[in-house]
Amino acid sequence: MKIPFSPPYIDEDVIKEVNDSLLSGWITTGPKVAALEKGLQEYCKAKRVNCVNSWTSGAILMLHWLGLKEGDEVIVPSYTYCATAMSVMDAGGKPVMVDIKHDLTIDIEKIKQAITPRTKAIIPVDLGGVPCDYKKIMELICSKEIKDLFAPTSSNQEKLGRILLISDSAHSLGATFNRKTIAELVDVCILSLHAVKNLTSAEGGAICLNLPEPFDNDELYKEVRILSLNGQTKDAFSKSQAGAWRYDIVAHGMKFNMPDVNAAIALAQLRKYDYLLGERKRVYERYSTLLKEYHWAILPQQDTKELTTSYHLYPLRINPITEEQRDKLIQYLAEKDIATNVHYIPMPMLTLFKNMGYQIEDYPVAYDTYTREISLPIYPQLTNQQIDYIVNNLVEGYYNISL
Ligand SMILES: Cc1ncc(COP(=O)(O)O)c(C=O)c1O
Repeated sequence: MKIPFSPPYIDEDVIKEVNDSLLSGWITTGPKVAALEKGLQEYCKAKRVNCVNSWTSGAILMLHWLGLKEGDEVIVPSYTYCATAMSVMDAGGKPVMVDIKHDLTIDIEKIKQAITPRTKAIIPVDLGGVPCDYKKIMELICSKEIKDLFAPTSSNQEKLGRILLISDSAHSLGATFNRKTIAELVDVCILSLHAVKNLTSAEGGAICLNLPEPFDNDELYKEVRILSLNGQTKDAFSKSQAGAWRYDIVAHGMKFNMPDVNAAIALAQLRKYDYLLGERKRVYERYSTLLKEYHWAILPQQDTKELTTSYHLYPLRINPITEEQRDKLIQYLAEKDIATNVHYIPMPMLTLFKNMGYQIEDYPVAYDTYTREISLPIYPQLTNQQIDYIVNNLVEGYYNISL
C-alpha cells in the first residue's frame, strides 16, 4: 500500500472547470478569478478578497501597502514555514521571532515582550489549521499601553493608528474561533492555495480584507488589485475588450496576479469544500481515536467549544523520543511506503536565519516540538483502511525504535 503525504484533490469537476478555462480563449486573470474571489469572500465572511499567485506574494503586497521602512519590525512565530518571515524581509522589514506554546500557536506573552515602537505588524500562524487566539492578540494591540508605543512611519500606518494584525492562514481555511471565521477576527487574513493545501489552485493565495474604519475595504480591494498588476489601472481582461486599450500606471506595484486557469482548480474545489473539510475531519478523528490509547502519543489540538481546526495537518508528537529516534521512525514508515513529514524545522535552525543571528536556544518550545514531531498523511482521499495501516505501522515502528 503506497501512501503519499498530501496529493491534490483532482476530480472530474476540477478537470471540467480547468477545461472550461482552457477552451474559453482566456486563461489569465479574468472571470474565474472574479468568481473565486466572490466565493471565498462568502465562505470566509471577509469584506473583500483579492486572489494572488501565492501566500508569500499576498503577504509581501500587504506589508508593502503598509509602508514598511528599514528598521520596521514584524513579529512572527519561530515555528513556521520560512515564508512567514521572508515576506517581511522582502517587504523591507525585520522579522522578530518569538516562541510558540505547546499547542503550537504563538505565545502571546512573548509577543507582548517583543513589541517596540518599531513594531508595525504581527503575523501569527494557524499551524496545521488551529486558529490562534486573535481576540486576545487584538485586545493587546488595541490596549492603550501598546497604542501609545506605536510610532507610524507611513500614511496607512497613521490611518490605522496601531499595529496591523495579519493572520498566516496558509493552513486554516474553514477553521473557526468562537464560531467566527479567522477573516472576521483579524485585519488581513491570508490563505495559501499551494498544491498541498486544503484548497488549491496549484500555486496561489488569497488576501481576505477586514480593515476597520476609516478604511473602505471596497476601495482597498481596488488598490490591492492594481498593486498586484504592476500598478496598472486595468487588468489584461478588461484591456482585451475592443477599444478598451488605454491604461495608466499609478503605483509602484508587483506582478502577483492569479491566472484564471489556476483559479479554475480552486473554484471547483470550493464548491465542495464542506465535503472536503468533512473528510479531513474524518481522518483527523480516526487518528485521534486510534492513537489516544498509547501513552507515548501526544495528540494535536482537538476541536473544542471554542475552536474548530481545518484539519490541514496531523502534527503528532511522541514522548519520550529523541530527534534521532524520530528520524528513524520516519525512515521506518518510508520503508513501508508511508510518506510522513516534519512541521517544522524552526526557522532559527535554518542557515539563512542562523547567519542573521537568530539562535535556537532562544526558542525552547519550538525546538522541543521539532525534535518530537511527526506529521501523518491527511487528505480527503485517505481511506479508513489506509489510516489503520498507517497507525499499525506507526505503533510497530515506535516499539521497534525504542527497544
Ligand atoms: C505556514 C505557511 N505560511 C506560508 C506559506 C507560503 O505559502 P505559499 O507557498 O502559497 O507562498 C506556507 C506554505 O507552505 C505555509 O505552510
